[in-house]
Amino acid sequence: MEWIKIFESAVEAQHTLRENVPQRFVVKGKTVCLVLRENELYAFENKCPHNGESLSNGAINYMGEVVCPWHGYRFNIKTGRECAERCRDLETFPVKQNSDGVFIAVV
Ligand code: FES
Repeated sequence: MEWIKIFESAVEAQHTLRENVPQRFVVKGKTVCLVLRENELYAFENKCPHNGESLSNGAINYMGEVVCPWHGYRFNIKTGRECAERCRDLETFPVKQNSDGVFIAVV
């Protein structure tokens, strides 16, 4: 697993991202969606597994799910699980923070 630095620090991440607002990033050629929620950073594929909409255009609900703007499918941002098993789950990516920065592992 290769860790790729996406922010120089947790402070930079918190200044770049808005709480509960999905944001699109390209990491090593892969388009991912990042969400800052309750001081945790979550990363998952940006393309909705149902029909391909960009989840960075979606919203985060009170249960910590990203809601796709096209057909309303809901995915847990931590596990990637679609709430009603209507399609495959989202691919999620590990995120870690340390004194060197904030890193994401994409395969
Ligand atoms: S494209 Fe996302 S729910 Fe249909």
